[in-house]
Amino acid sequence: MGKKNKPSLSLSHFVGVVVFSLCCVPKSVLGVKEELRFGKNGEFKILQVADMHFADGKTTPCLDVFPNQMPSCSDINTTSFVDRVIQAEKPDFIVFTGDNIFGFDAIDAAKSLNAAFWPAIASNIPWAAVLGNHDQESTLSREGVMKHVVGLKNTLSQVNPAEAHIIDGFGNYNLEIGGVKGSCFENKSALNLYFLDSGDYSTVPAIPGYGWIKPSQQLWFQRTSAKLQRAYMRQPENQKGPAPGLVYFHIPLPEFASLDSSNFTGVRQEGIGSASVNSGFFTTMVEAGDVKAVFTGHDHLNDFCGELAGIQLCYAGGFGYHAYGKAGWSRRARVVVASLEKTEKGSWGPVKSIKTWKRLDDENLSAIDRQVLWSKSRAGVRRKKQVGDHE
Ligand SMILES: *[C@@H]1O[C@H](CO)[C@@H](O)[C@H](O)[C@H]1NC(C)=O
Ligand SMILES: *[C@@H]1O[C@H](CO)[C@@H](O)[C@H](O)[C@H]1NC(C)=O
Ligand SMILES: *[C@@H]1O[C@H](CO)[C@@H](O)[C@H](O)[C@H]1NC(C)=O
Ligand SMILES: *[C@@H]1O[C@H](CO)[C@@H](O)[C@H](O)[C@H]1NC(C)=O
Repeated sequence: MGKKNKPSLSLSHFVGVVVFSLCCVPKSVLGVKEELRFGKNGEFKILQVADMHFADGKTTPCLDVFPNQMPSCSDINTTSFVDRVIQAEKPDFIVFTGDNIFGFDAIDAAKSLNAAFWPAIASNIPWAAVLGNHDQESTLSREGVMKHVVGLKNTLSQVNPAEAHIIDGFGNYNLEIGGVKGSCFENKSALNLYFLDSGDYSTVPAIPGYGWIKPSQQLWFQRTSAKLQRAYMRQPENQKGPAPGLVYFHIPLPEFASLDSSNFTGVRQEGIGSASVNSGFFTTMVEAGDVKAVFTGHDHLNDFCGELAGIQLCYAGGFGYHAYGKAGWSRRARVVVASLEKTEKGSWGPVKSIKTWKRLDDENLSAIDRQVLWSKSRAGVRRKKQVGDHE
């Protein structure tokens, strides 16, 4: 397309326009954590490690490997897989979604936690963790584990948000991923990460089974999501819709069971180990409107991702060797990459797409099941279609 003739402007007018139009308003309203922002390539990559089940290191045997692999297999294989996958993917951020240690077999919880997170710490990549249902079974309580974790190097984990005076569990917090430094989005959170404690076991006698995300946590999530959305949609670079949100916790939601192989990518090789009650967190997320995907662990033999009501429900698949698994079915990790859109001015703008794949602990660290979790253009088309349906 040919360029349109523009009315000529004086030099001083031109300079003024450049100074102001590059980024609208010079002052930030949202304090983005300096630690996390999109890179100069317009991408942000997250590695999810689920269910390491780390215990005492080289004296801890593996489960569900072939008999001939048993003598040479221990927690050290889990450590070397974390190392290898970090080297291969070079993520911007690592998230551990619980059962980081298998407390029941860990002699000293603090030592096990230090060893489990060591490869992440040594990589100098920022990382975060939430609790599973086994982390507290050693010498530290759930609060104790989370307090120990937040004291480790390079972690952005928090015990609980300062603004929530009453909240159930330990390890509920959010992180903002700023736009590219020097771009119009540098002071905006272009991607939001939420972390929640999905509990361990029900403490209500009439309700059997696993824990769930409580109303106090959902209220904190709702308020945080609303606050982030307001900031994102106002000046500078006011956006029409919210920034995408990704949610990480351990125990899958009952809604995971509404997916099957006709509508997910990956496999389901065991039942959905959710709580026996539905505490409504899925509905809360759909209502909030910004969440595009949920990432859990807990069921080591399930590694699928499928969409329900606009939210992708994803497992990472089991990672650790001192955890149940399946001999011949590689331990694995999930990778997510969010990519930014180029604005008309040639700068980096909002998130354009979110993709995922898994890495297997085989000789080639095979990458499998690549899929698009969300894309701005597809979401736009869907909205238009829905509007059209009612015309
Ligand atoms: C972001 O905030 C910093 C510090 O307040 C400011 O110097 C910079 O101009 C802001 N950038 C944009 C694009 O608004
Ligand atoms: C565990 O690590 C050892 C030492 O590197 C290796 O020989 C063995 O094959 C690994 N086992 C599995 C099941 O990957
Ligand atoms: C997935 O497909 C099954 C049919 O195979 C259907 O019963 C179910 O409702 C679908 N779920 C979603 C979330 O689309
Ligand atoms: C790894 O890659 C090599 C060379 O491409 C191939 O021969 C081998 O089968 C692959 N191994 C696995 C487990 O995929």
